[in-house]
Amino acid sequence: MPRAVITGSGTQIAPNRITNEMLSKLMDTSDEWIRERSGVETRYFVGPGASTSDLALPAAKQALEAAGIGPADVDMIVFATMTPDHYFPGCGGLLQSKLGMPPVASFDIRQQCTGFIYGLQLVDAQIRAGCAKTVLLVGAEIHSGFMPWTEAQFEYVYGRSETPPTPAEREWNNRFRHLTVLFGDAAAAVVVRATEDTDRGVIDAILKMDGADYQRLYVPGTGFSRRPYTSPEQIAAGDHIPVMDGRQVFRMATTRMSEVAQEILARNSVKPSDVRLVLMHQANQRISEYVQKMLGLRDDQVFHNIHKYGNTTAATIPLLWDECARAGKIQPGDLILCVAFGAGMSWGAVLLRA
Ligand code: ACO
Repeated sequence: MPRAVITGSGTQIAPNRITNEMLSKLMDTSDEWIRERSGVETRYFVGPGASTSDLALPAAKQALEAAGIGPADVDMIVFATMTPDHYFPGCGGLLQSKLGMPPVASFDIRQQCTGFIYGLQLVDAQIRAGCAKTVLLVGAEIHSGFMPWTEAQFEYVYGRSETPPTPAEREWNNRFRHLTVLFGDAAAAVVVRATEDTDRGVIDAILKMDGADYQRLYVPGTGFSRRPYTSPEQIAAGDHIPVMDGRQVFRMATTRMSEVAQEILARNSVKPSDVRLVLMHQANQRISEYVQKMLGLRDDQVFHNIHKYGNTTAATIPLLWDECARAGKIQPGDLILCVAFGAGMSWGAVLLRA
């Protein structure tokens, strides 16, 4: 049975770099608070008009180049995002068309921060079943669309306008400050190919979903539980912006990520010290440090980049992969563990050899 091996990766970071200091121009926050609570120092946002599939395009091209193949060699796309260009259709077909590819099978998946883990398991299953040989797996997000700020306020943050938010606007922004400081825009992609080499590729995956607590992290409005599914009233109430119970999400993320990592290692008779790298979803530096401690991992076994990019949801793990691969931290045959937790609530892990 063929195995699924990652043969190339690529990244596209949004162009506008935003420091914590810059965010304090819009709301009552500080560099100290954000760093201490989350580890985030900067994040990047796209400009108006840029979409998630636009951001994914250069990341995908870079991944194809790194894999030494062209768009016509890809026979399947799996696109993970919770911030698609449109309610429908999904981003997979948009990316296929932008890449100038012939028609191929394409899945759009919405498992939020666990999107890449779900995507990799799906790709592995497709390859093992003989349904695909070369898959482009993408995780991409434009979170700046969730931000409660007007375009004029973005311009003020960038220093291109002198007009600060009004006191009422600042109060509105404060309502979401625990959330907005965490997220950034980015895309990352990997090429996954079928191989007969049993010393490489995906070894095992665990996927979990428990909807009981979904309201701890969700978007209350702009969904089909309302009629019409979107309205000026919903926007005015802020129902298009995610609701997040930060403390509970923190607790669940640390527990579930540690549990699932331990489970996948144990059932494959792998000791934590045998793993070359653990790539954890970048939600919060403190969550990652907690999981590292629970697994007893050395510092050289983990790699973080949340300080640079913030939480980029489905993009965090392929972004880590790409940075590590380009820095020579991932070599063919290395044992890698990917683990994530996100809205749903969803969580999971994939164990693979690079
Ligand atoms: N700047 C300054 N003060 C703030 C900010 C801010 N940006 N946001 C909230 N505060 C204030 C609050 O109002 C509160 O003030 P009070 O004590 O006067 O009431 C105080 O800071 C503490 O707020 P908490 O929300 O309790 O702070 P906490 O220590 O829990 O940190 C945080 C908040 C960073 C959101 C944390 O709970 C967290 O990271 N949770 C995980 C959330 C997460 O990772 N979400 C990502 C999506 S899911 C995923 O990727 C796993």
